[in-house]
Amino acid sequence: MDLFAEGDSRSKTERLGELEARAKECQACGLAKTRNRVVFGVGNPEAPLVLIGEGPGQNEDATGMPFVGKSGVLLDECLREQGITRKHIYICNVIRCRACVYQSGRLQNRPPTQEEVKACQPWLEQTLQIMQPAVILCLGSPSANAIIHRNFRMTSERGIWYESKYARFAMASWHPAYILRLEGEAYETARRELVRDIEEARKKVIQAKKEPQKTTLF
Ligand code: URA
Repeated sequence: MDLFAEGDSRSKTERLGELEARAKECQACGLAKTRNRVVFGVGNPEAPLVLIGEGPGQNEDATGMPFVGKSGVLLDECLREQGITRKHIYICNVIRCRACVYQSGRLQNRPPTQEEVKACQPWLEQTLQIMQPAVILCLGSPSANAIIHRNFRMTSERGIWYESKYARFAMASWHPAYILRLEGEAYETARRELVRDIEEARKKVIQAKKEPQKTTLF
């Protein structure tokens, strides 16, 4: 059965739930062997705003929820400054299983390989196909590369609106884990910029609601 065929009358919640159940069985790359949980996504399936991070870390792998570690705490703080909670949005990642390497006697996070990103792409694409969000906020370069364009440069392209095949409006901002590695004024500046980008995304949702919907690729 094609779950996403036109005319599927089920709600986004039902369709996303079914997709998540299938993703939990995924064996498309080697991360299936090392993961504890598939971290599919969390939030409101009807939300017009989707935030996309890079991939789960240790805490996310342990709980099955995205952004529950230190980066998640910072992200939630920044969202709250714009009156946004996880009930208002949907959050997922480019890859849905933790990418890690055994180093210095323990498992450490590592960036996903291109093969892992490619293997996980159908889950991201189907998530967005179901949700049809008006606005996507990418957190970090891997997300911007997947959603906006392959050669995205965060330093020069952060905070700029793009049209994407996945949403009418897409923008990228600093990943909270990057902000947490900064100190002093650099930390404060980057944190302020993330809050401002979230504010822009919130305003874009309001603007998108007023405009007639364009046909999407899907
Ligand atoms: N970093 C991410 O990119 N995603 C998570 O879910 C957690 C940390």
